[in-house]
Amino acid sequence: MKCRKCNKKAVINMRQHKLALCQTHFLDWIPEQVQRCIEKYHMFSKQERLLVAVSGGKDSLSLWDILWRLGYQADGLYIGLGIDGGSHYSAQSQQYAEAFAAERGLNLNIVSIPETYGKTIPKIAESTLRGRAKPCSVCGIAKRHIMNRIAREGEYHVLVTGHNLDDEAAVLLGNTLNWIPGYLVRQWPVLEANRPGLVRKAKPLCRIYEREMAAYALLRGIEYVYDECPYSVGSTTLYYKEILNRLEADRPGAKLNFYLTFLDAKKKGLFSPQADPDLEQIHACPTCGQPTSAPGECVFCRMIKPG
Ligand code: AMP
Ligand code: FES
Ligand code: ZN
Ligand code: ZN
Repeated sequence: MKCRKCNKKAVINMRQHKLALCQTHFLDWIPEQVQRCIEKYHMFSKQERLLVAVSGGKDSLSLWDILWRLGYQADGLYIGLGIDGGSHYSAQSQQYAEAFAAERGLNLNIVSIPETYGKTIPKIAESTLRGRAKPCSVCGIAKRHIMNRIAREGEYHVLVTGHNLDDEAAVLLGNTLNWIPGYLVRQWPVLEANRPGLVRKAKPLCRIYEREMAAYALLRGIEYVYDECPYSVGSTTLYYKEILNRLEADRPGAKLNFYLTFLDAKKKGLFSPQADPDLEQIHACPTCGQPTSAPGECVFCRMIKPG
């Protein structure tokens, strides 16, 4: 297989784009695609300050690398969850995030959940869920809350995450299998800060396959944590990703098409904001000031209370 641009040996073949590229051209192509995505969805400009949420994994570290190369003002945020799981998952991920920032002279904010709130994520989950479920839901709530808090406190214009196409397509599959109107209304590459206390959020990798992000990290020499969170084993998201990959294997582009036709349908007015049943009840949490649809205090503030 030869590179479409220079005829040298290709290192990757992207069947969904009918495009094979050599290392040099692939490493140029990914940032170009990201830049196009940023512009297409009016995510942010070079004058704005970005906070990139980095988990120490391939997607978010590569995203930070790409934004930095493209000339954006991007600081990082790593959230320590206190998850060990035998592989020192949190400690390891933090080391990768710190090493990445140090090598490039970039600024990384670090928030340790156990140090700030007194309990690790598995401990919070134990007390709120009484050991009935995995900590992932608790973890998601905490990460969202802290990302928004740090973005506000640091006066960043945008919070940027490393969600890739596989992530977005898996979420979409879950939301359509269950037809969850509120989630379908809100799923979009950029979410405006349309409530007091909320920061704009953007996902510049939403059109790039996970496989390509792994290739980018590898070819760019970015070191990242290979282990997945120990609690992600057997998760519904991974199951949906697997199903989508089976579809993709038979029909190259199926995954991309699924997501892009959804975005297209939304642009044409399907899933309009009026379809969001929670929209009316949004108010500011009396404790932390972030928007919530829960009566009284937000879910995070109730979850984090001592006791
Ligand atoms: P995940 O939900 O683990 O698939 O992660 C989705 C995105 O959330 C990542 O690409 C990161 O941008 C962000 N993220 C996940 N975990 C962390 C963390 N511990 N600290 C900061 N950002 C994170
Ligand atoms: Fe949060 Fe796994 S439970 S990353
Ligand atoms: Zn080439
Ligand atoms: Zn709150």
